[in-house]
Amino acid sequence: MLKRKIAEILRKIHLLQLADSALLIIERLRNYFPNRRFSLQNPYFKTPPAHLAYDAYNHVRWQTYHDMGRRHAELIADLIKKHVKEQNIKIFEWGCGPARVIRHLTKIEGFRKIDIFGADYNKESIRWCQKNIDSISFMTSQLKPPLPNPIKDFDCIYALSVFTHLSERMHYEWMDELLKALKPDGILIFTTQGDIFKNRLLLADREKYEIGQLVVKDQIQEGKKHFSAFHPPDFVINHLLKDCVVVQHIESPTSYSLEQDVWVVKRPIVV
Ligand SMILES: C[S@@+](CC[C@H](N)C(=O)[O-])C[C@H]1O[C@@H](n2cnc3c(N)ncnc32)[C@H](O)[C@@H]1O
Repeated sequence: MLKRKIAEILRKIHLLQLADSALLIIERLRNYFPNRRFSLQNPYFKTPPAHLAYDAYNHVRWQTYHDMGRRHAELIADLIKKHVKEQNIKIFEWGCGPARVIRHLTKIEGFRKIDIFGADYNKESIRWCQKNIDSISFMTSQLKPPLPNPIKDFDCIYALSVFTHLSERMHYEWMDELLKALKPDGILIFTTQGDIFKNRLLLADREKYEIGQLVVKDQIQEGKKHFSAFHPPDFVINHLLKDCVVVQHIESPTSYSLEQDVWVVKRPIVV
């Protein structure tokens, strides 16, 4: 709790981003030997620059980047196998960062030859992906919609921990945009910070959460990891997804090493 209170003070005085740069140095030192060992054991696994990983994941541990990335790719693959009946499917990861998850998808049985696209508004992450990750088309998007032009007609779009860094208004704008980029029967998979996170909120925010309102911790650049949104399921179902078909909601699937809630949705049924 003390850590959270300090973060709140730093947020209010606009020093959270600066403090983060100092913490990155500590994080790199802390992981120096484990990361060296990982790189020696996995010489062909390219790791992103530390500052890009830290910006996206708040850690710089290559073993975790690898293992959790693989596990989360398996989650996405399992949901696609369950909910998408088409063959030769087209997949898009929105907010792919430095490829933690998407890089594993092409190695999963049944996903080796499909068309996979990734986008992020962080240009540097996308440049790194384009240079280092094969068999996937990467492109830069913007913080606000629309998506770049060729991005449409997907059987599956997924976004892991991306809505978690947006303002309320952008939740609605992006939900609209992503649904439009799906094929009529395609699925959107996205994650939210649901009930498991509510005990980590300070009192006033928790009260807001308890009455079903989206909690947004801002005062920092939108889209960045410390710009953080918390999503009561009531808000997601009754507001964000008001007109969508909720295909599946999985609360904190810890068997996939994920604390965030997972939602699988389809476009609204047109009558
Ligand atoms: C917590 S990281 C998650 C990265 C990746 N989805 C993963 O699970 O490894 C959040 C990512 O979303 C990206 N992001 C945030 N807002 C975005 C937006 N409006 N459009 C595209 N990417 C965005 C950030 O640049 C960052 O790479």
